[in-house]
Amino acid sequence: MADLTQTVLGVDWQSPVLLASGTCGYGEEYAELIPLDRIGGLVTKAVSLEPRMGNPPHRVAETPGGMINAIGLQNVGLSAFIRDKLPWLRENLSRARVLINVVGHTEKDFVEVVSGLDDQSGFLGYEINVSCPNVKDGTLFGADPETLAKLVAALRHETERPLVVKLTPNVPDIGLYARICEENGADGLSAINTFPGMLIDIDRRRPVIGNVSGGVSGPAILPMGVYLTWRARQATSLPIIGIGGIRSGSDALQYVLAGATLIQVGTALFVDPQVAIQVHQEIDDYCERNRVTLRQLVGALEIPGDPA
Ligand SMILES: Cc1cc2nc3c(=O)[nH]c(=O)nc-3n(C[C@H](O)[C@H](O)[C@H](O)COP(=O)(O)O)c2cc1C
Repeated sequence: MADLTQTVLGVDWQSPVLLASGTCGYGEEYAELIPLDRIGGLVTKAVSLEPRMGNPPHRVAETPGGMINAIGLQNVGLSAFIRDKLPWLRENLSRARVLINVVGHTEKDFVEVVSGLDDQSGFLGYEINVSCPNVKDGTLFGADPETLAKLVAALRHETERPLVVKLTPNVPDIGLYARICEENGADGLSAINTFPGMLIDIDRRRPVIGNVSGGVSGPAILPMGVYLTWRARQATSLPIIGIGGIRSGSDALQYVLAGATLIQVGTALFVDPQVAIQVHQEIDDYCERNRVTLRQLVGALEIPGDPA
């Protein structure tokens, strides 16, 4: 066995592999499918202040090389999360780390979710989903520099736990947003969330997805995720969690070489929940074959002609 351990966000990780938000429920749903305590951890489905019913069907559809979803951030809301979901995570996971994905439509929503959770036990920190429109001005939190800066600063004020901001890929220069997160006190970045897309049923001449458009994920977005991770790496020194289209150890290692310390597997879990364990194993095999530790590979991309 190779050494895949790392210290990130102030704690030790036994594996770099996490399950991505929205693709593993609140953990409990996956407990019978895979041994969660063998991977690095999981990110919960988004938690909002109030419960959300989500969007009308269809909410998901297959696309060439992936899927499109418009779940509408359906979730049980803060109170029910604390009462019904968090106890399972607290009692059943000892080695896997838990990040709670937080979403809101106003800065106050985000702040109230974080302050409502902060004195609870059973999780490491937060992954802040800034891919949601701000009800005040309609822009995405994560696409407006000023709104993002204010939000991260407000959340930093609220918690001492690790604060990871999940970047949207739908911006011209992800490096700018990565720097804003760093300057305002974030501890880490997740890159990336889904890309906007749309499918049309030509017989019905209607959108396939009830919400008309949705977020595209899966293998089709892998090259974009790797590229944006690399760009974010160049812009900041924050640890980065690489996400997008990962379904094998070699996919994950592309993110690691581009600068990710940890990675998340999302859409691939719908094809085979075991894939998270396989990704871990394949990273292990690679490190063993090449006699390297995972730590040595983070950001170790070599670009010909570039002075090292
Ligand atoms: C069905 C579904 C639900 C998702 N829900 C969330 C969510 O609640 N919060 C969030 O930050 N990302 C959510 N995502 C985005 C994923 O966490 C991930 O960033 C994205 O799917 C890219 O990774 P992948 O290609 O491995 O799926 C969701 C993705 C899918 C497919």
